[in-house]
Amino acid sequence: MDFLEVKIEKLIWRGRGLGRKANGQVVIVDPLVLPSETVRVKVYKAKKDHLLAIPVEILNSSKKRRIHPCVYASECGGCKFGSISVKLGTKLKLAILKDAFKRFDFLNYKDVPISTLPSPKGWRYRHRGQVFIHRHLPGFKKLGSHEFVPIKDCLLFTANLGKNLVKLARKKSDGRYSVISNGEDLAIEGDNKELKFFLPKIPLVFLFSAEHFFQANWKLNQTLIDLVCSILAQEEKIADLYAGAGNFSLPLAFYGKKVLALELNKNGVLLGEKTAKINNLGVNFKQVDLNRNFSCVEQFDPEAIVVDPPRMGAPALKKCVSHLKNLRKIVWISCDVVNSLRDLKPFIDVGFRLTKLYFLDMFPQTWHMEVIFVLEK
Ligand SMILES: C[S@@+](CC[C@H](N)C(=O)[O-])C[C@H]1O[C@@H](n2cnc3c(N)ncnc32)[C@H](O)[C@@H]1O
Repeated sequence: MDFLEVKIEKLIWRGRGLGRKANGQVVIVDPLVLPSETVRVKVYKAKKDHLLAIPVEILNSSKKRRIHPCVYASECGGCKFGSISVKLGTKLKLAILKDAFKRFDFLNYKDVPISTLPSPKGWRYRHRGQVFIHRHLPGFKKLGSHEFVPIKDCLLFTANLGKNLVKLARKKSDGRYSVISNGEDLAIEGDNKELKFFLPKIPLVFLFSAEHFFQANWKLNQTLIDLVCSILAQEEKIADLYAGAGNFSLPLAFYGKKVLALELNKNGVLLGEKTAKINNLGVNFKQVDLNRNFSCVEQFDPEAIVVDPPRMGAPALKKCVSHLKNLRKIVWISCDVVNSLRDLKPFIDVGFRLTKLYFLDMFPQTWHMEVIFVLEK
């Protein structure tokens, strides 16, 4: 395959660099390149209208670039923004987001300013993550391959979690595992151990385990909870779809809302119910597959829904759009904007309008982002 020299014009979706050959053909370069840099790249695939390449040498590096603090950065490729300041990373992601919105002409995003909520911590913010374990050692799979690379720490994990990965991995056989920490105690998938997480503002104590999803950036999650509760201050009857262990349902119930919480993962539902009990809150949790069954949402007849699906989105939700007669507000929490916009289009088609937009830098150093769309009728 060819070696080329390209100048990176901008970053696009997934934090990849876009450059061009002299004849104008687009070259997508990934990972770890920055706008304005001239890079020697190795092309590894020719697509119909562009080339895919990996950087070999940064010939003219950005003045913003500094030494990446992670020794595994080039092999892992996860922390694409690790060699710039967190502030610049947030700014570049916002530009990527605005660029992505251009593809969705049904969305009135130009009428709505985007509020940016940065992460309180740039590194060591993850209280939950995943690791591969091989021969009782923690590690990751090398970028673009299945090769296992052992690690001693991950700088995205809280110090307690990162520095104890080796210890956690010792007792496990080969596989991929969720690991969690609340700052004091630790658990690895299979332990079925409940850890307490505090939400001081309400106050509320959550029980989480490594057996279900909960928001990894616990600090910024507290801002997210506040935001969701304030957006829904006027609504009384709320269905929380893809509810996890009640991250939004329980605070909403604290503020006196009638809440139906729907979630597929049984462990999440059980811990949500247990958390409700110890905090003296009433939330109706149900284990439901929202790809198949919306009847309980329809029967509940909510005024508002919180939708926080996994990356694949909520494609089946369109089936209940016309049945929710009293629905007037939607808070859509998205970790994959492209899939979310596909899935919220049916709501726009029946008269909902985008009224608020928030960009949360939930995952500093990585290209991932969380976007909140508020739709109202
Ligand atoms: C992004 S998480 C959000 C969880 C929760 N809202 C929170 O903030 O912690 C998505 C959740 O959707 C759940 N989920 C995935 N597929 C589902 C399905 N088909 N039906 C219901 N829930 C599902 C996952 O188990 C996960 O808890």
